[in-house]
Amino acid sequence: MSNITIRAHPKFSNVYISGLPQNPKLYSKNLIPGNKVYGERLITFKGEEYREWDPFRSKLAAMILEKPSLEFLKKDLSCLYLGASSGTTISHLSDIVYEGVIYGVEFAERSMRQLIQNTDKRKNIVPLLGNANFPESYAKSIFTPIDLVYQDIAQPNQAKIAIENCDYYLKNKGFLILAIKSQSIDSVEKSEKIYMQEKKILEKAGYVIIDSINIHKYAANHIILTVQK
Ligand SMILES: C[S@@+](CC[C@H](N)C(=O)[O-])C[C@H]1O[C@@H](n2cnc3c(N)ncnc32)[C@H](O)[C@@H]1O
Repeated sequence: MSNITIRAHPKFSNVYISGLPQNPKLYSKNLIPGNKVYGERLITFKGEEYREWDPFRSKLAAMILEKPSLEFLKKDLSCLYLGASSGTTISHLSDIVYEGVIYGVEFAERSMRQLIQNTDKRKNIVPLLGNANFPESYAKSIFTPIDLVYQDIAQPNQAKIAIENCDYYLKNKGFLILAIKSQSIDSVEKSEKIYMQEKKILEKAGYVIIDSINIHKYAANHIILTVQK
């Protein structure tokens, strides 16, 4: 039994917090009670089970703690998640969009095996073994129009991958949440210059940058952009 008091996040749907408002801990409500994905702490409060959401393990959690201006989460979203890895962040997104669906694309076979093992009870995750550089290659497995693209891929062409997937799948006015890791684009150049360069690529392709959140506190050389089609 824990004596932690959990309450709804003041802004983000289906995200929960505990502790002081200026330094909260984040949680999502466990869609599969009793089930852990990455060794996270489970807490029961008023008969509901919550999973602690670690901002040092999940850039989406880090972004939410850094107070983005826009709320982009809803329980029934259709999401395309690029770079699903072994399932840490996608599992929290699965708790949040519990009436929606998340197509999780990952190209490393070993990570895909772990993703399947870690999330097979979560019926709203569709794991897809594929390369995000080739969006059309997984088109046969995606059956719903996409409201939200989330991308966390450490590759030199991060903005280009995002644009190609959003051009292909994202609804008009839909949102892209894009993690940019400057080190993967150029390890010598200053991070700020790389971020500007990637933003320009997105804008040139007709996308609107709503927000740019620096998460260096949690993940070195990373920002997260909120982008609208
Ligand atoms: C930083 S990790 C993602 C962590 C994950 N988003 C999380 O928070 O739980 C990046 C992942 O992207 C995958 N990846 C890199 N390039 C890719 C590509 N072109 N297509 C699909 N997946 C890719 C890697 O194999 C790795 O698992």
